[in-house]
This record gives sequence, C-alpha cells and structure tokens, in this order.
Amino acid sequence: MSTPAKAQPNAAVGRTFTLTDDQTGKSYKLPVIEGTQGPAVIDVRKLYAESGYFTFDPSFSSTGSCKSALTYIDGDEGILMHRGYTIEDLAEKSTFLEVAYLLLNGELPNRAQLDKFTRDITYHTMVHEQINYFFRGFRRDAHPMAVLCGVMGALSAFYHDSLDIHDARQREISAHRLIAKLPTLAAMSYKYSVGQPFMYPRNDLTIAENFLYMCFAVPAEPYKVNPILADAMDKIFILHADHEQNASTSTVRLAGSSQANPFACVAAGIASLWGPSHGGANQAVLEMLYEIKSKDRIPEFLARAKDKNDSFRLMGFGHRVYKNFDPRAGVLKKAAHDVLHDLGKTNDPLLEIAIELERIALQDDYFVQRKLFPNVDFYSGIILKAMGFPLSMFTVLFAVARTVGWIAQWKEMIEEPDLRIGRPRQLYTGPTKRPYVVVDKR
Ligand code: SDX
Repeated sequence: MSTPAKAQPNAAVGRTFTLTDDQTGKSYKLPVIEGTQGPAVIDVRKLYAESGYFTFDPSFSSTGSCKSALTYIDGDEGILMHRGYTIEDLAEKSTFLEVAYLLLNGELPNRAQLDKFTRDITYHTMVHEQINYFFRGFRRDAHPMAVLCGVMGALSAFYHDSLDIHDARQREISAHRLIAKLPTLAAMSYKYSVGQPFMYPRNDLTIAENFLYMCFAVPAEPYKVNPILADAMDKIFILHADHEQNASTSTVRLAGSSQANPFACVAAGIASLWGPSHGGANQAVLEMLYEIKSKDRIPEFLARAKDKNDSFRLMGFGHRVYKNFDPRAGVLKKAAHDVLHDLGKTNDPLLEIAIELERIALQDDYFVQRKLFPNVDFYSGIILKAMGFPLSMFTVLFAVARTVGWIAQWKEMIEEPDLRIGRPRQLYTGPTKRPYVVVDKR
C-alpha cells in the first residue's frame, strides 16, 4: 500500500523510532523523517556515535541513501513519476528533451524555456575532433559499451573550463555537454563497430532524429529519418531517463560525493549500467529469446530459471523495487506492437516468444509468489532490433537516456548544502591481530 502524501517534506516531524539493545537494555531514540510520498526514513546518522553499532544492509534493500525530488517509484502499485508526472503521461505527451529539462529544473518548460534549452543542448552536440582518435585504439569488434566507457572517461580531459563543480554555471554547461554529446559518442561507437565513417551531428534535427541520422546515415547518399522510428526512439529515451537510486545512479552519486568531475562520474555510471543484472539485461533478453528459439521450448527455460542449481535467470523479469508490473514495460510492450506493425514486421517471432513467455511465467507459482514481472528491459530490445540496432548497442542506448538521470541526480546531490563524501562501513569478518612471520618461517 503506498504511503499517503504528506505536507512538509524532509521535516523530522518529531516522530521517533526506538531501538533497544536487548543485551544492555539501553534504548536509542532515532528521528523519523517523512518525505512528500512513500516510506518515511529512520535517521541513523548518529546511531554509531551513540550505540557503537553499524546498520547492515549490503544491497541497500532497506536503506535510503539520499533525499531526492526527481523520481518517485511505488513498487507495489507499479507507479513511476518524474517530479510528479506519471511516466505514462510523459511517454505519451512529452519529448525526451522536455523530460530532461523537467529532471534538471523541476518543472516542464514553457515554450520559450524549451526553445532556449533546445538551443543550449544542440550547441554542444559536436565533440572535439581529437576525440575521434580515441576510438582508433579499440579493435573494431570491441563492445560499444567498452568504447563508450573509455571515451566518456577521456571527455573530462577536454573541458577544463567546466570542471568547477561548485560553480552553478559550470555545472549547467557540463550537464548540457553530457546530454548533448552522449548521442554523438554512442553513434560514433556504433559507426566504429561497423567500420563506417562517423557522421557529424545535424542541429536541425531533434535528439532522437539526430541520433538515428548519426547511426544510420552514410556520406555516400541522402538519409531521411523515419518519423516512426524517431518517435519510438524518443519514447525509449524518455522511459529510460531516470529511475530513482538504481545501481548506476548510486554509482554516479558515490563517485560525485568525492567531488570528482561529472564526466568521470558518468563514466562510472556507464560501467555499472553494463552489468546484465542492470542495463545489460536488454541485450541479455534478446540473447535469451534467440536461445529459446521457439514457443515450445519455453517450459524448458522456465524450468531452468526456477532451478537453483542453474545460473540461468529469466532476463527482463524481476526487479528490486517493482513487485508489480514495471509501468515502463507496459508502455514498451505496446510500442513494440506499434513499431513492428508500422514497419510491416508483424508476426515477429521474437515478439511472439516474448509475449508467450510472459503469459506462461505470470501463471507460474514460482514467478507469482516472488512477484517477478517483466521489467523495462523485457520488450525494449525487440523494438531496438526492429529499428536496426545490433544487440551490442542496446545498453549503449540505455546509457544515452540514463545520462539525463545521472547528471540530474548528480546536480541535485552537489547542490545539497550538507554534501559529504559517501563512505560506508562494514561488518569485519577477517583475522584478528596476529604476529608477523618472516617468509622462511612460514
Ligand atoms: C534494470 O534498480 C533499477 O531501478 C534498475 C532499472 C533502472 O531503470 O535503472 O529498473 C533497470 O536494471 C531492470 C532489471 C534488469 N535485470 C534483469 O532483467 C535481470 C534479471 N533479473 C534479476 O537478475 C533480478 O530480478 C534483479 C537483479 C533485477 C533483482 O534482483 P533482487 O532484487 O536482488 O532479487 P533476488 O535476486 O533477491 O531474487 C528474489 C528471488 C530469488 O529466488 P529465491 O532465492 O527467493 O528462491 O527471485 C528469484 C531469485 O532467484 N529471481 C529470479 C529472477 N529474478 C529474481 N528467478 C528467475 N529469473 C529472474 N529473472
């Protein structure tokens, strides 16, 4: 059940939570802080100083790492909102650039603000010509995520004029540069992998149109962006823009807490996103559907997913927060139908396997009891493949979109008045103190 919205966000409302040490009988009153929506938090910042105990939550299942006003998720109800707007509304009625403005500034832009923001972003779509040489160090068959991670880390070497994170204008320029250049770098990663020349960005196109142009146009002939694909691309970018404190966003925040520059922080986020448990799942879903090959093999793979002795998991299923449908999966499932239909690719065998797999899994006790539903990655790859992207580019596209969330969350953190370096503690389980033994006596 979602917690009713409360007034006075962030206030410690006088409520306390008492912890009692059964060994000593000592009690500790901890402040409770309520947000505007969702679970309240127990403020344990002083617990160690007062009790000598650490809390213990290695995968952060019960831990709030920060305050944030960007994104709200209700996993039980399958709700996702950005600054109070539902993902369904934003996906249907907004554009990726509007959502980027909303995440960065807290409000949807009016026409003048959107026009200026569009110019601000468009102005930065090109990358320094020297960046081209970084690609040449990679083999052509390098995974585009490896290339993107490397080139992003190098980007901070080019922007010494915007690395002072305490200067609001430099933070804004860095945010604009990252949002504008990720599509260009992603397209370059793709072009490099297929041995085609890089295409310079075109500032007369939208972000989605420009990305498709830079990926699929060639200098030898004119290229017209398919509006169906551009619309689908923009929608996919919106759906992947931000998602609260997921693994890659938490990586960006932790890197940023040391005051590292935003380009280095985003490179860390790209690295974390690549994992198949996170953003790498969209590629893994397609690999799984190819391996399943036909509907009649679905029971075999479901049995494997349930077998604790088999490392196979149903990729694109399950989520740490959603114990209901991931609302993004619903939008993407419909978009997959629409794009395939509009492209005249109805009866896509992979889509048919995916739909049948979802149908059977959602009737299976194992998945029902564990509340394992399709997540954002289950259908996205089917659309991306139909659009002409190779599987190895799927997570790169996720990174293009999530850069907006990463940089908006980074900006929110840097602007926190009490920013401190993130430094978790541990439960030590190693050897206690022992005498050193020289090598000849070991
Ligand atoms: C993303 O955090 C975010 O918001 C991420 C994201 C974003 O926008 O940033 O939403 C994007 O990363 C989506 C998730 C993409 N990953 C996958 O699709 C990979 C497959 N899913 C799983 O690996 C898993 O569901 C996770 C990683 C997504 C969540 O893992 P949890 O929360 O740690 O869950 P768990 O491993 O503790 O699983 C609980 C139970 C276990 O069984 P029991 O030990 O209770 O018997 O459910 C089982 C798991 O074995 N389980 C699965 C399963 N996912 C969980 N069994 C089979 N197939 C699966 N996919």
